Amino acid sequence: MILNTELEYKGNLFPSNIISYKKVVDTFYFTTKNNVVLQLTVQRDSVLRFRYTTTAIFEKDFSYAITKYASRGYNNLEISEDKDYYTVITSKLICKIAKADMRISMYDVHDNSLICEDELGFHWEESHEFGGDIVKMTKTSQNGESYYGLGDKPVHINLKGKRYENWVTDSYAYGKDTDPIYKAIPFYIGLHHKKAYGIFFDNSFRSYFDFCHERRNITSFWAQGGEMNYYFIYGPQMSDVVAKYTDLTGKPHELPALWTLGYHQCKWSYYPESKVKEVAKKFRDLKIPCDALYLDIDYMEGFRCFTWNKEYFPNPKKMVKELADEGFKTVVIIDPGIKIDMNYDVFREGLEKDYFCKRADGPYMKGKVWPGECYFPDFTNPEVREWWSGLFKELVEDIGVKGVWNDMNEPAVMDVPDKTFPSDVRHNYDGNFCSHRKAHNVYGMQMARATYQGLKKFSYPKRPFVITRAAYSGTQRYTSTWTGDNVASWEHLTIANIQAQRMCMSGFSFVGSDIGGFAEQPNGELYARWIQLGIFHPFCRTHSSGDHGDQEPWTFDDNITDIVRKFIEIRYQLLPYLYTAFWRYTNEGIPILKSLVLFDQSDTHTHYRNDEFIFGEKILACPITEPNAKGRRMFFPKGRWYNFWNDEVVKGGQEAWVDADLDSMPIFIKEGAIIPKYPVQQYVGEKKIDQVTLDVYYKKGREKSELYEDAHDGYDYKKGRFSLRYFNLVGKKNELIIQQHKSGKFITSYKTFKIKLHGMPFKISKIQVDNEEIAFEDIKVNGDNTIIISKEFTELHVIA
Ligand code: GLC
Repeated sequence: MILNTELEYKGNLFPSNIISYKKVVDTFYFTTKNNVVLQLTVQRDSVLRFRYTTTAIFEKDFSYAITKYASRGYNNLEISEDKDYYTVITSKLICKIAKADMRISMYDVHDNSLICEDELGFHWEESHEFGGDIVKMTKTSQNGESYYGLGDKPVHINLKGKRYENWVTDSYAYGKDTDPIYKAIPFYIGLHHKKAYGIFFDNSFRSYFDFCHERRNITSFWAQGGEMNYYFIYGPQMSDVVAKYTDLTGKPHELPALWTLGYHQCKWSYYPESKVKEVAKKFRDLKIPCDALYLDIDYMEGFRCFTWNKEYFPNPKKMVKELADEGFKTVVIIDPGIKIDMNYDVFREGLEKDYFCKRADGPYMKGKVWPGECYFPDFTNPEVREWWSGLFKELVEDIGVKGVWNDMNEPAVMDVPDKTFPSDVRHNYDGNFCSHRKAHNVYGMQMARATYQGLKKFSYPKRPFVITRAAYSGTQRYTSTWTGDNVASWEHLTIANIQAQRMCMSGFSFVGSDIGGFAEQPNGELYARWIQLGIFHPFCRTHSSGDHGDQEPWTFDDNITDIVRKFIEIRYQLLPYLYTAFWRYTNEGIPILKSLVLFDQSDTHTHYRNDEFIFGEKILACPITEPNAKGRRMFFPKGRWYNFWNDEVVKGGQEAWVDADLDSMPIFIKEGAIIPKYPVQQYVGEKKIDQVTLDVYYKKGREKSELYEDAHDGYDYKKGRFSLRYFNLVGKKNELIIQQHKSGKFITSYKTFKIKLHGMPFKISKIQVDNEEIAFEDIKVNGDNTIIISKEFTELHVIA
């Protein structure tokens, strides 16, 4: 479909020479002789927006992706002009616009190095069928350039050499080459000469990216309608590119409640009530921590959303309460399809209020999903979202459901070749009336948004929890997500690993896979290996279709149950560490998982690494993705890494073999790290935390760590009721110093830290806390290098 080879030049139209320009505050308008206007907005010194029209008239400026909270403002903005170019300069970037043909090139202001340049640049083809244009862009690929991002693509982390489509699609049992799948995140990162930039093509039509696939040194992107409208985001650090993209499209509106970071158990489906309770009891009997149980579609009456099957669940409120008494939060599924049934009030109301999507000539959009023939709310209509959010009142406020799972919101339609709405379906698009061609990719996002609004309203003063399958850029503001209907295979374990990393570098960190695989059934070994990976994913849930048997931690033999318990316990111990990573993500847009290339882009070895990743800031994990493995080779990024299991140190910058029998997995801690841990709990809040362990890993040199805590739910933290501790570690030959700076008004329940020293190169003879020497008996140096001290210490000296 792309028309960018020479043969296909025909039909393509190009901007001619620029004849004028004007500046309005932070925006320049360059106009060509043939009426193309480039609107160039300087959002930030390192974020430039490029928007083109081919008719001199722009459409109304509207985007579901860009948040109103996005940072704006620059330190410097200049424009100059010579014979051939206009040059726009900020404190980070130089942008040249060629007068002859409007082609753009971007340079780093500090060293004048070329970051990205147009090849053909913007061009278009008139869309006779639909009106408007098919908008296109081609750029030259620089020497050694690699490409990353694009959301949930289940392929190699480095996208070079491939072509992808952005069209949200229900993809049961997708494979490693299936494209597109559930999400459309038209954002990629280019990396060359140690510098990274990003491009976010904010166009919700079906769009494509080609990374040197069609032509060896050309990258292109195009969409079937709408505007050529993209943001250029400069790093040069890749993590800054991701953070700036996340700032633009939105960080989550609130921190997730801590329980949502616990372990979740799901299946299609647990019913009746006695089955749900049996599962709950088993978790507690076997002492496997678990925070959430899910009800899939069978809890409803004939799959009608917001109803209950009273035969299976005679008293949902009572059941939800009894589960809550045992520490389980109930999460229920809600799909977009509303069953056509005049005796069903949600359907009747939707009909009366004219809230369902319609075809071009007037009939309702009718499609088959689980309940049979359905109509579908137009979630792109703000009034519909408001109505939808209100429908959660009973579920949340009265029955006590704590989370809602939005599925099939691509929107999926059964028994039709396109698996979704036909393109003529009409949408409100927040007053920018359009067809499904434009609204398709945002439909699921708007559903999740409406659900979020409902949960937020009715869960208050607690925080909402939503999970969605479909997403467009920006969906991370409202909800968590999972990677859809994967398969219980070793290959899919690898895919899950890549997808979670890729989603994190695409601004969407609250992500996980169906642990163990959705379709088919894993054996115990695969399940155990998947749990090992899953505890390092921001969202950690086992889910399966149930067609092929059970998939609970105890389904396999006792040995597997023990392994699963052991790893879920590690997850619960690491909750304060993970929560701190979430705090950084919701505050600064820093991804929770960092592919090695994101962690150290200066080392070209990392550019093609798929398996290893950094969890938070300090933990390096690498799943075992093959059967019968006793370990594996893995790559260690630069630095020194402590083996989590035995404290052995590995020097980074190389590959090495790591032993990992089935009850183990390669986990390493960055030297100098301070890792906070809570005691194992069966669910969040089970125990009052009366001591926090700080695992301190000696380093000769300096390292910073942090610990963020608050009430773990509610909104008080937004008023300053949080506790943020910065730890500064300085290791010397004969001394280890830890300084602590604290801010925030929240008072944590514990009084002491148990400091556990790892890798000490000397025998401790003296300890000072806040400049006072402490007698060993007072602070209790245990035989195992642990010290218990007040959490209020400001400086700890451990001396040889
Ligand atoms: C879809 C979902 C899956 C769910 C099933 C039934 O396949 O992806 O998670 O269990 O529908 O609701």
